[in-house]
Amino acid sequence: MSIIGKPVEEIPTPALILDLEKFQWNLDKMFKFARKAKVNVRPHAKTFKAAAICNKLIEAGAYGIMTQKLSEAEVLLNSGILYGDKNILISQEISDPTKLERLVGMTVAMGEGKVLTSLDNLQEAEMISRIAERWGVKQDVIMEITHGRCGVSPGEDAVKMAKRIVKLSGLRFRGIYGYENPVPRETALERDKLTVDTAEAIREAGIEVEIVSAGSTATFEVTGTYPGITEIEPGSFVFGAGKEGSGYGWETINDVYFKNSLTVLTQVISDNFQNRVVTDAGAKVMSGGHAGVEPVVLVQADGEYLDFERVGLSEEHGTIYFKEGDPNRNKLRWGQKIQFTPNHCCTTVNQHDEIVVVKDGYVCAVWPVTARGQYQ
Ligand SMILES: Cc1ncc(COP(=O)(O)O)c(C=O)c1O
Repeated sequence: MSIIGKPVEEIPTPALILDLEKFQWNLDKMFKFARKAKVNVRPHAKTFKAAAICNKLIEAGAYGIMTQKLSEAEVLLNSGILYGDKNILISQEISDPTKLERLVGMTVAMGEGKVLTSLDNLQEAEMISRIAERWGVKQDVIMEITHGRCGVSPGEDAVKMAKRIVKLSGLRFRGIYGYENPVPRETALERDKLTVDTAEAIREAGIEVEIVSAGSTATFEVTGTYPGITEIEPGSFVFGAGKEGSGYGWETINDVYFKNSLTVLTQVISDNFQNRVVTDAGAKVMSGGHAGVEPVVLVQADGEYLDFERVGLSEEHGTIYFKEGDPNRNKLRWGQKIQFTPNHCCTTVNQHDEIVVVKDGYVCAVWPVTARGQYQ
């Protein structure tokens, strides 16, 4: 039976809930900023994985979409969201020849320029080029500049690599990306400088660099206003999940603020003790995502945030603990439906088939998590 039109209290728990107005507020904030800063936004779909959300972002002004995985790109591309000149950029390197066939196959089927892939290795570049030549197409590529994970060292190494890439006739070199991680302002600036200087050095070698991508939710303002960055690639801003809307839940970096639009609705199933109540949402529906970080950062009951000591997760139980005598405990009762904010939105979304969309306390839509479990 459909839950559309029902009040939140009637949604079976546990369920992943999106507050449509807060979500929209987050999009408005990001795209208002981007228009003013004159920077493109390529939201990272590894966060939300839902075609409906990609669609909303494209409507809001997204330049394209980023995915981490080839299979995410396949599923989202096949869902028909990337109409017109919108394209998809796969940010993770690929070293499996079978996957590279799939990559170029997408370009053959959907048209040149629809899918870009990032690389940091000449072998990968040569393999892609051979496959593309065989099909008679050009595969768009972008080179990753490292800031501690994959990628080519900024500067000379990157220039050398770009020179070799442009010689490969199956490839079209579109630019570089240098994801600087959710870091403090000064670090982001240092890393953006390395990325932008590298783009300049490649241009000085006579190679066109159209795309210079970087940035995350935590650094969108720093990076989005850095001269020479052409696009930013934030993901978790759509959910603003976490205590201070930083996307990760335990701290605000660079004073970034987005509204917490994503919660897990859960029901109190046991309330026999003064120090705790037990709910039906455990680790199977919420992910801490980061070692040493509390898995739940906020608890909401009857529309109000509640103070608590901690939430302990076992597989199917979420237990809220209170300090002795804490009056907050008395705000919770057996059968009540409450909301948890998990500290890491991206890994939590990937645990759900659907996102229940709520406006003014009523369900207006259920969005499939289209690319759920696409790890390949
Ligand atoms: C390559 C890349 N770009 C962008 C992002 C977006 O980060 P956030 O979700 O913090 O906005 C990530 C996050 O892991 C990433 O790996």
